[in-house]
Amino acid sequence: MLTNRINSIYLDAAASALKPQSVIDAQLDFLKNHYANAGRGLCARAEYADRIVIRARESAAGFIGAKPEQIIFTNGTTDGLNRIANMLPRAPACAGVTTVAVSDLDHHSARLPFQEKHKIVLCELDKDLNYKSIPKCDAVVITAMSNVLGVRQKIIMDKKRITIVDAAQLVAHEKIDVKEMNCDALVFSGHKIGADTGLGILYLKEPDKWQTDKFGGGQYMADGPVRFEAGTLPLTQIAGLPTALKECEERRAKSTDLIRYLREELEKIDRIRFISPKDSCLLTFVVEGMHALDFGALMGAHGVCLRVGNMCASWLHQRLGLDATIRISTGPWNTMEEMEQVLEIIKKIIK
Ligand code: ALA
Repeated sequence: MLTNRINSIYLDAAASALKPQSVIDAQLDFLKNHYANAGRGLCARAEYADRIVIRARESAAGFIGAKPEQIIFTNGTTDGLNRIANMLPRAPACAGVTTVAVSDLDHHSARLPFQEKHKIVLCELDKDLNYKSIPKCDAVVITAMSNVLGVRQKIIMDKKRITIVDAAQLVAHEKIDVKEMNCDALVFSGHKIGADTGLGILYLKEPDKWQTDKFGGGQYMADGPVRFEAGTLPLTQIAGLPTALKECEERRAKSTDLIRYLREELEKIDRIRFISPKDSCLLTFVVEGMHALDFGALMGAHGVCLRVGNMCASWLHQRLGLDATIRISTGPWNTMEEMEQVLEIIKKIIK
């Protein structure tokens, strides 16, 4: 069961997913019955909190085919990418000044942290906006799935550079195997896959070769991933993570089916121009003769939550020659009945 009690149709999973009841229950149980800080105490409650952290680290590792010692808890994808940008100058094979390749597919958080601290070069995209080539660089940030286009990108590997994967969107739609990807680092957020906000995962293939950029309590003289986790972790969110990951794995496919159906139906409407490709996990479009923000406001007035604007992907929008698009993204809580209602509302708004 997923929680959507307000009378609305929530089609903004790609921004943040609704939370399964089981995740809320796991968090409530921790808060009400077991709460204590982790990594600091010797009482039964503190041991329980420690076990929650260990279990969540194991779950996150299993979720992406990693080992627990390769999993670092962050506050989200943006935090993870900022941390990598901070750590890069002292990362393996990067002495000091670093050239980082980014692309026009990037969400702002995949480029701006690197732009602040490093020299930026641009990856070439082909006419369908897929990665074509990666210029000479020390590190590359690959957007595994654009939050606008919704298609999986091939991870072009080269051992001579550090490959950082922004998997914030991909993780909601596809099983990731970091061994198969063979990337050096990968990040994603919990909140897009049913866990709570404020929790992210940073995978490092060889954590022992990286030096932390964050110092403080719980971390001093520690080994393993804890070395990167100064301060108190978002424990309540961590308590809900294993359940969220399990639910995500079990319910990934259904949301894509709804997107496919919606697209087929919207293709019958002349004024809609699709931005996302046919096989996308998302539905991004513009309505000829109507600004995306007006469309979003009208949908909102009808109780439909979707995303409009540049979606923190302004470089892609510049390339498309658009200042804003409309994005529909579904999650396991959405139903076919809702899709029918949404179609009716869209037809009414743009008739
Ligand atoms: N990155 C999120 C989105 O695409 C917030 O909506």
